[in-house]
Amino acid sequence: MLSKSQARLFFLIATVGFSGVFLWLTIDSVRQVAARSNAENLTEEVVRGKEIWEHNNCMGCHTLLGEGAYYAPELTKVVERRGKEWMRVFLKDPQAMYPGRRKMVQYNFTDEEIEDVISFFEWIGEIDTNGFPREPDMAPAQVTTVAAASGPKPPAMFSTICAACHSYAGSGGNVGPALDGVGDRYDRPTLRKWLADPAGVKPGTAMPNLNLTDAQLDELTDFLMASSATSGR
Ligand code: HEC
Ligand code: HEC
Repeated sequence: MLSKSQARLFFLIATVGFSGVFLWLTIDSVRQVAARSNAENLTEEVVRGKEIWEHNNCMGCHTLLGEGAYYAPELTKVVERRGKEWMRVFLKDPQAMYPGRRKMVQYNFTDEEIEDVISFFEWIGEIDTNGFPREPDMAPAQVTTVAAASGPKPPAMFSTICAACHSYAGSGGNVGPALDGVGDRYDRPTLRKWLADPAGVKPGTAMPNLNLTDAQLDELTDFLMASSATSGR
């Protein structure tokens, strides 16, 4: 048992000691704000994007920097996870990306608003969050890192958009079928038409019309035809 004076001493030392620790941690955190907040990269676009974020109460469903509601995915690293090109298509029409299955709101953003929102997410993603969120923060499709083990390298567009739903050479999403060897299942004109207008080839299909340009259609068709010829699958 402690005597009365020992107890008092114990109380004083512990209180002063831990107050000191608390004070030091507070000072240390505040000291780091300037270096880690990414404030120097705040542009007008980022600010407009943040206004859109607040005005539409995106936080009613999403979390950002861990704050918000847990209904929809955490978005701190969404640009890194999905890539800008995927986000452009998704924000323009979430339903088209996930026909009939998804709950993300269709906001009818203008192209400029979409760029603002993406800039905002890009800025958020560059804040030094001390490793938050833990990787991977959701099970992402390997959208930006699809690696062809053999055969031709996928065009950038394939890795940023198509791979969200399709796998190729073992990585990517599983919303649609794996695309290895797809050139053996279709002839070239049909494949190109499928990419240009999926519903025109197969009415009611879940594959979105991504409004690809002629150059993108050629590049992707070349890639899909060539990959099947060399992969032998
Ligand atoms: C009613 C709830 C809700 C609101 C409000 C909402 N979202 Fe979403 N959002 C979702 C859901 C659910 C998903 C997951 C994909 C899906 O099911 O459509 C999602 C997905 C996303 C994604 C893709 C995340 C990923 O990695 O796949 C982005 C980006 C996004 N939302 C941005 C926004 C922005 C910006 C706002 C505000 C302007 C917003 N969301 C408001 C429900 C919501
Ligand atoms: C939002 C998800 C999604 C995205 C993004 C997407 N697809 Fe698809 N794709 C599908 C689905 C689902 C199917 C199966 C459709 C069906 O059979 O009705 C499909 C089917 C296909 C097929 C036919 C495959 C077969 O074996 O019949 C090809 C080829 C294809 N997609 C290529 C692409 C390319 C190239 C891209 C990128 C430009 C792309 N897809 C982007 C969902 C997607």
